Amino acid sequence: MAETERWDRVYASEPHLYTTEPNALLVQVAKSMACGQALDIGMGQGRNAVWLAARGWDVTGIDPSGEGVRQVETSGARVHALQRSAEEFDLGVEAWDLIAGIYVHGALLRIAERVIAALRPGGVLVVEGFHRDVMKLGIEGMTGGQLGYKTNALLRHFLPLRIERYEDCIALADWRRIEAPIVRMVARKPVSGATE
Ligand SMILES: C[S@@+](CC[C@H](N)C(=O)[O-])C[C@H]1O[C@@H](n2cnc3c(N)ncnc32)[C@H](O)[C@@H]1O
Repeated sequence: MAETERWDRVYASEPHLYTTEPNALLVQVAKSMACGQALDIGMGQGRNAVWLAARGWDVTGIDPSGEGVRQVETSGARVHALQRSAEEFDLGVEAWDLIAGIYVHGALLRIAERVIAALRPGGVLVVEGFHRDVMKLGIEGMTGGQLGYKTNALLRHFLPLRIERYEDCIALADWRRIEAPIVRMVARKPVSGATE
């Protein structure tokens, strides 16, 4: 709850802490696919969900932040915006062509098995977030030592998928546009009969 209140406050008082541009990796992957059904986990103020919807995707975005959901709803974008945490949302089975987890970290790992089940065969998971080393930068507001993916955590949690791309690098983060340790992953659910 404290986490949700924090995001409500951030979105109400610092609406442009994140870039308003959609995530570059998500854009690249989505442009290579035919439009289908997409789920944005932890959509925040909806920069990614709104972009996908504008390109013709049927998008559902979930976030426990009521303020984030409100901003998406009032934007007029055709996004099914739900005030729901990843843990309480029923992702379904083989329901999504594309699942995005952009700067959501622990919430995504906690539901990894359900994310894998929820992808359609051939469907793609796109993830970008901080590496845990970001805590070493001592940035104000990043406290508790818990933010970011531990080394190879994404690989371990999503190993049943085919990891098409994985990067552990220093790059410009979408958050505050700071240079930071970033992890990126594109992983596809194998279709039945695919080579192991
Ligand atoms: C760093 S923001 C990223 C927002 C958005 N994905 C983006 O890239 O602009 C993290 C978001 O995750 C949401 N979040 C936190 N815990 C969550 C959970 N358990 N399930 C789903 N979303 C969660 C927060 O409310 C917040 O909006």
